[in-house]
Order: sequence, then C-alpha cells, then structure tokens
Amino acid sequence: MADSMPTTEPKKADHPEACAIVIFGAFGDLTKRLVMPAIYNLATKKQLPEKVALIGVDLADGDAAAWAKHLHDMLESFVGNASSEFDVDKIDEDTWKNLAATMSYVKGDMTKPDLYNDVGAAIDKAGFKGGNVIFYMAIADRFFGTVATELGKAGLTKQDDSHWRRVVVEKPFGHDVESAVQLNKTLLDSLEENQIFRIDHFLGKETVQAIAAFRFANGMFEPLWNRDRIDHVQISAAEVVGVEARGKFYEATGALRDMVPNHLFTLLAMVAMEPPVSFDATGVRNRKAEIFTSMPPLKPEDAVRGQYGAGTVQGKEKAAYRQEPNVSPDSNVETYVALKVGIDSWRWAGVPFYLRTGKHLKNRVTEIAVRFKPAPLQTFAGTNVSQLSANWLVIHIQPEEGFSLHFEVKKPGPEVVLAPVRMDFAYKDFFKQEPSVGYETLLYDVMIGDATLFNRADMVEDAWRVVQPILDAWKEGTPEIYPSGATGPKGAEDLLAESGRKWRSLDDTA
Ligand code: BG6
Repeated sequence: MADSMPTTEPKKADHPEACAIVIFGAFGDLTKRLVMPAIYNLATKKQLPEKVALIGVDLADGDAAAWAKHLHDMLESFVGNASSEFDVDKIDEDTWKNLAATMSYVKGDMTKPDLYNDVGAAIDKAGFKGGNVIFYMAIADRFFGTVATELGKAGLTKQDDSHWRRVVVEKPFGHDVESAVQLNKTLLDSLEENQIFRIDHFLGKETVQAIAAFRFANGMFEPLWNRDRIDHVQISAAEVVGVEARGKFYEATGALRDMVPNHLFTLLAMVAMEPPVSFDATGVRNRKAEIFTSMPPLKPEDAVRGQYGAGTVQGKEKAAYRQEPNVSPDSNVETYVALKVGIDSWRWAGVPFYLRTGKHLKNRVTEIAVRFKPAPLQTFAGTNVSQLSANWLVIHIQPEEGFSLHFEVKKPGPEVVLAPVRMDFAYKDFFKQEPSVGYETLLYDVMIGDATLFNRADMVEDAWRVVQPILDAWKEGTPEIYPSGATGPKGAEDLLAESGRKWRSLDDTA
C-alpha cells in the first residue's frame, strides 16, 4: 500500500458549512454541463450552505456578470433537452438570481503565480478570509499539479481547527502508475490527504451508492456472496456515443485508461469489498482499497481490445473511429476493452470478474450481473427439463436503475417444465426522481467533509498497478475492428467462451 496512507479523514459536519467554491475552468465544458447544474440543483433543494460564494477562474475575458450570463444561457439550453444530464422543466429564476449574486470572476493564467494573489483577494472580498474554501479543478489534468502547487505557495491551502480548505480533483488521475504516483506526490507536497477529494463520477450514481446498502442492509444475499455460490461476475459499461468532439483527448487516452482503473474498478470494488467495520470514510475506503491490493496485475492474454469501424448505431450511420476529427487515420487506440480480472482473496479465489466497456455499441447499458452457480443436484434428470438456466442478480445502473433477479419456475400444467422468469425492482416505481446530474451528492459530501465516496492516493495507485501490464503490452499491436452498432469485437466473446461462458445480451436492459 502507498506510503501516502492518510492518518486523518476530513472533519465531518452534519450539514454543509458556509464556504466559497472556487472553480478553475469556469467557462469550461465540465463546469457548464455538470458542476454548475449540480450546484443549481443543490440550491433548489436548499442543500447549499446559507452563506456561499462562487468564484470562477479562467483565461477567458469576462466578469461576474458575463460568467453568470454564460452559465444561465447554458442551463436554459438544456431545458427540455432529454439527452442532457440536466433534466429540469424550467429554471427557477429566483434561485438562479440568488446564486448569481454570489458570483465573482478572476481572469488569468493558471500557470502564473500572480493569478493566485487575485484568487486570494477574491476569496477575501467574498467574505471568506480565513474561511472554508473548495477549490474545484474543472480543468485539463496536466494542470492539476501546477494549480495545487501554486495554491500552496500562495498560502491558500492552509487550514486549521477553525476552517478547512479542500481541493476537488477530476479524472484522469495520471495516465499510468508512475504519473499517478508523481501526481499524488505533487498534491501531497501542498496538501494533506484529508484535503484532497479525487472524484470518480460513477460514485455519484444513485444505484452505485445503493450497492453497499443492498449488500449490507439485507442478510439475504450476503451468505451467497462468495466463491461457493457465485460462478462469475460481469460488469458492463456499454455506450452508444462515440468519441464525439474528444478525439484529441481520446487519442492520448483510449478506453482502458478512460474507463477501467477508475469507473469499472469502482463498480467492482462496490460488489467485491468485505463488509466495512463502520460506514465512515475510513471503514469503507479501507475495504475498497483491500480489493485493489488483492487484484494481481492483469495478464495480456486476459485482455481484449477493439476499435469501432463504420456502421449503424440505433438507426444512424456512424463513421469509423479513424475518421473522427482529431484522430489519426491509422490510429491503434482502443475504443473497446474486455478484461478478465481476478481477486486473490478468501471470498473470491477462482471467481472471474469480466469487465467490458466500449463506444458505438448497440445499446447503452451500465450494469453489474452476478451469475450464481447451478443447483448442485440434477434433481430434474428423467423429466422434460434438459437444462437449467442460470440464476442472475443484475444491478441496473443506467439507463434503468434497479435490481432484477432471474430464476427458474415450473410452468403451470401437468408436466414438469421449467421457465426462466425475473423479478424486477425499478427505483422509479418506488421513489420520486429528483433532478440530478450525478454530481450533487459528491459536491454535498465535499461540503460536509465526507470522503467516503472519494478515492484515496493508495487506491488510485493500486488501480493503475493492476492495469499497467496491459498499458505496456498495448503499445504494440492493433485492436480488432468491430462495426459501430455491434456488441463489441469477437475476441471479447472468445474471452468468455474459453470457459464455456457468455456475455449477457446488451438488449436485456429492463
Ligand atoms: C467519462 C469518460 O469519465 O465517463 C467518457 O471520459 C464516458 O468517455 C463517460 O463516456 C461515461 O459516463 P456516464 O456517466 O455517461 O456513463
């Protein structure tokens, strides 16, 4: 485990405490698509502190009024647009006016030390001299280290018993083991571990948070949750979108870095972790960290990569990845990954976890599917039942949110004939859906100092350690091309077929 293991967690409060939120990358994509809509949603739910100040920092010309107008226009443009994450019927103008009144703007270059004097002055002017401040890095990852260092040099990260200073760091957190270790080191030169909130937005998804509650608040499944009863686990994050306007980023990243050591491993840790001793940040994060330390580095023969070619996704013609803007015409960057992962622990020895993610696939499905072992005895031999189908527990993350259980029943009638059926629980049938872009809980948790849903230095380093052999191996060779709109490359089927297993259908989303 990394020697950066924290000795303390942030000081936790019962409700959000007065704070300034300084957003680096104020005019950027993340701010307008997710961070500000989340702040607005928190405001409408009265979940922001009574006293709050929003301070935007960016290179663009502008002032507080221009920044507020830009954000308001963005929010407006999302209204009624079903494909945006910000799904509200209308903007509550009173709420927006109150938020806009707290805004100020600092123009400048993040790499120049002078900027940080201006940021300090803006914090003081907003009434937070010696007060609580969140620094949100909604910026390109190459600036994370610089911003943290400069904040430290300007004295802005100093905290004491009377106030806190916290930094939110987005992904990608490094691009391999070495860079992740280096980035942690740079951050920890200016900050304590308890000040750093490394976001993985998958943990903002309701159903992902619900996994722990499902497992540990119900005695029913936990006795089955081990190698004696579970055959294997499939974790899928299939997307219909392509790389869109992110060709440059994707060429340097690829599906493995973009999705696996962060989002997919996060899901895996939620399913595989041991019950925590307590439900606080230390208890939960220690258990998750154990999963990463007990995963052996991946073997190249357990990894499959693919890249989308031209095809049709949900009725629309799509170009090949190599024809996307800012993508090399002979690029070997993968847009699809399938992996077989093991966990060397008493509970999971011998149980494969199959992970897959890809772009331009047939359907959008994010889910965790747990396949139970067949019944131990061939009780039905000599009847009409030739084969038993599998028992699955499926945790639907998106687009549906819920759980479903697949099992066998006897078909009504005189003969013994079995039929597979399913029992479904959908969140929307039981709970009112609040507008959410998925960042609300995470921001709220930063404000109250709850680090449970954030990654610790040792967790990110260990996750990179697991995938590093594949990163090394894939510097050579080529991905298998799959047509856009398919379920992935054939190699991914073979990865399971060698042990007689099959991926779940991407159609089976309900
Ligand atoms: C991001 C990746 O972190 O997650 C994107 O960079 C990906 O490539 C996205 O599309 C998926 O998130 P979600 O919430 O849309 O499933």
